[in-house]
Amino acid sequence: MLSMPASTDSEYADSCVGERAVRPQRAPDAAQVLLDVRNLSVRFPVGRAGFWGRQRLTVHAVDDVSFAVHKGETLGLVGESGSGKTTIGRAVLRRLPVSAGRIRFRGNDITQLRGEPLRKLRQHMQLVFQDPYASLNPRMRVLDIVAEPLLVHGRARTRDEAATQVADLLHRVGLPADAADRYPHAFSGGQRQRIGIARALALSPEFIVADEPVSALDVSVRAQVVNLLQDLQRELGLSYLFIAHDLAVVRHISHRIAILYAGKLVELAGRDAIYDSPLHPYTEALLSAIPVPDPAVQRRRRRIMNCGEPPDPLHPLPGCRFQTRCPVAQAQCREATPPLRECAPGHWVACWRH
Ligand SMILES: Nc1ncnc2c1ncn2[C@@H]1O[C@H](COP(=O)(O)OP(=O)(O)O)[C@@H](O)[C@H]1O
Ligand SMILES: [Mg+2]
Repeated sequence: MLSMPASTDSEYADSCVGERAVRPQRAPDAAQVLLDVRNLSVRFPVGRAGFWGRQRLTVHAVDDVSFAVHKGETLGLVGESGSGKTTIGRAVLRRLPVSAGRIRFRGNDITQLRGEPLRKLRQHMQLVFQDPYASLNPRMRVLDIVAEPLLVHGRARTRDEAATQVADLLHRVGLPADAADRYPHAFSGGQRQRIGIARALALSPEFIVADEPVSALDVSVRAQVVNLLQDLQRELGLSYLFIAHDLAVVRHISHRIAILYAGKLVELAGRDAIYDSPLHPYTEALLSAIPVPDPAVQRRRRRIMNCGEPPDPLHPLPGCRFQTRCPVAQAQCREATPPLRECAPGHWVACWRH
């Protein structure tokens, strides 16, 4: 068994969001499934290899992933870089072709939706981008950035009408009214992320994919953005798929957490179960990677992520994908893929040890 991290709640908060004033979140409505993803696979053809170019190369970005997001819930999706988080986020928003599986939103199968129905659906599902510096057009004023979806989808008929709605949205995300007349370069990273959130809220969506929304921000402003997302969830009944590359960031905002490794879900459970009784060795490794203020504790931590071969998305191995780094892998792990099974109520894990 791997040693469990000994850090406390506040240490997690310090290391991830920079301050302790992160508010507790409200319980979601578990009875109402908003998004239901079943056996989702996304593969990218990336050309050919071999002397005659006969062998087709395919990136297996996401493989047989199933999860649900309930109304008013935040599902944290955590995995290292390249594990398929953005691909899942974009696939569920139907911004990427799905290779296999099914996506239901509000009970309707949206996997193959196209044209006008897809355009209409997109109003209910929005994306908050990872990089607030790259995601806003530097040549557009904030007014035009936030008003664009309102005008495109006919929610405002005139610029004046749009400006009134934009003022409301800016107020909602905690920006001053005169922000509308300025350009993105006049704002800090945290403020730019607020502009991105205002734009995402413009069409009153029910579901938001937040793709590493605080990763590019200073630690000192992360908590403010996380708190804002939580406040908006409370006020507007939003549901989030909140993507992060480490477990520190998602602790305070997630109701449940899904752990992704090399395109496969390895564990899915309530937030406390993930932090207090993780079952998958990869989840334990992620927990042990959360920095703690005490350097002695930090040194004692096992650094699994630095050893073993990283996964190759072009040639996934048979069996468990974590086998090359797993400290407790057995012969069975190299032969067969462990299914995601419910080991305790609501606690799912894909590991032959359980
Ligand atoms: N358009 C694409 N074409 C080819 N490969 C891609 C494409 N988008 C993502 N990938 C690959 O899919 C895998 C998952 O990527 P991504 O979803 O961006 O991971 P994450 O967001 O977890 O860092 C990576 O190996 C990445 O290189
Ligand atoms: Mg990503």
